[in-house]
Amino acid sequence: VPVDPFDLVVFGATGDLARRKLIPALYHRLHDGQMPDAARIVGAARSDLSADAFRNMAAEALEEFVRPADLDAQTQKRFLSCIDYAQVDATSSEGWSDLAAAMPPREGRPRAFYLSVAPRFFGPMAERIHEAGLSGADSRIVIEKPLGHDLASARELNATLAAHFHEHQVYRIDHYLGKETVQNLMALRFANALFEPLWNARHIDHVQITVAESVGVEGRGPYYDGVGAMRDMVQNHMLQLLCLIAMEPPGRFEPDAVRDEKLKVLRALAPHDHPEDVVRGQYAAANGTASYREDAESPDSRTESYVALKAEVANWRWSGVPFYLRTGKRLRTRVSEIAVVFKEAPHSIFPAASGRWAQNVLAIRLQPDEGITLGMTIKDPGPGGMRLAPAVLDMTFADAMSSSKLRMPDAYERLVMDVIRGDQTLFMRGDEVEAAWEWVDPIIAGWEERGDRPVSYDPGSSGPEDALMLLHRDGRRWREIA
Ligand code: BG6
Repeated sequence: VPVDPFDLVVFGATGDLARRKLIPALYHRLHDGQMPDAARIVGAARSDLSADAFRNMAAEALEEFVRPADLDAQTQKRFLSCIDYAQVDATSSEGWSDLAAAMPPREGRPRAFYLSVAPRFFGPMAERIHEAGLSGADSRIVIEKPLGHDLASARELNATLAAHFHEHQVYRIDHYLGKETVQNLMALRFANALFEPLWNARHIDHVQITVAESVGVEGRGPYYDGVGAMRDMVQNHMLQLLCLIAMEPPGRFEPDAVRDEKLKVLRALAPHDHPEDVVRGQYAAANGTASYREDAESPDSRTESYVALKAEVANWRWSGVPFYLRTGKRLRTRVSEIAVVFKEAPHSIFPAASGRWAQNVLAIRLQPDEGITLGMTIKDPGPGGMRLAPAVLDMTFADAMSSSKLRMPDAYERLVMDVIRGDQTLFMRGDEVEAAWEWVDPIIAGWEERGDRPVSYDPGSSGPEDALMLLHRDGRRWREIA
């Protein structure tokens, strides 16, 4: 569905996120007929650039980050003609009045300000946008994690934003919510009658949420060190995934209805007071691969590049069902998935010689090979008598998309268009961010008080041994990272 013409100002337009994600995402939206030619994208940064020089940068970003099959000269030309540039300094008043003069409010035309800048500028820039008279009812402000470093700083940021914008104007991106399969998780749960009756502690044994990455922190050390996996991944992406699994069905698929339910889950998370239920890891050097400390250029660092933990949603639906979360860098392979592991059938009618049945596992794979699989037990085909064997019902979207030549859209494509449409369903509300910090902060404080050091793990492995023990102790095991 095409969106109405809009003005989008991208602050930090010469930075990495803009080049890798935002500019290609907007190009695709024009290419697919969703972004109108009358839309205007204003790159804004401190550099003294001409509009043409910035258009050249945008053209280079397209060459680098858009598949050649999707790059046609005609669309590229149309796209570049939507682009403008403004020199604006976040730390002074320089450039702001020119920007405001170039963007007079126009009835029905949304103006969005995407702050693709270091988080310390979020507050000051919100203030400047407001002072420049650009925070009117048609304006939206877009920011992305890190949204604070802890509860206190998240509250402060929310308060600054609230001083200049209404909550319905603030779009806090968690790019995981824009992923196709994550949205599919909501369709799966709430558009099918099959799962809801089973979606509770009576039938579900436990849930595993894995976000494994094969890359290290190369190049991002200055940001990552002192942040670590808990703040970088768990506080936001992983807890958002947990919310989508655990939340009650909202009354409507509308922003506050969905976000109210997610907030209830975050508030139901049991405070974490068992240090042995959290494993922190840091990758060591092995086989010629650098260690975390070398990658981050921080020789004594205690920052974790891996974390695994057991969480509990303390409410009627989930009482007693552990949610195991793990995420780490430099692991064997890149895979993100949510696995809902059902309880065993209550009684076997088959003789022991038939083989064991497996627990049913509903696995929602976010990447790669996006799709949903359901692990089942069936009769091994053939005349060999009643022998049980595992089988998988497989809905791999990636296959379906590639056979129809459709492209899996990037999360930012969906999210940026939602900003323009004014739909906050896939964005975090301020109270959600605070509730997530409220749960995470004491865990981090505990590490600091006890002087805990992360345990080391080999690059290319599936993480520290202690993480295996976390499940073994409960008589369970992690799914293979493969
Ligand atoms: C980011 C984290 O938010 O998500 C990165 O800061 C991480 O450390 C990235 O690599 C993972 O995103 P994706 O979409 O590649 O799974």
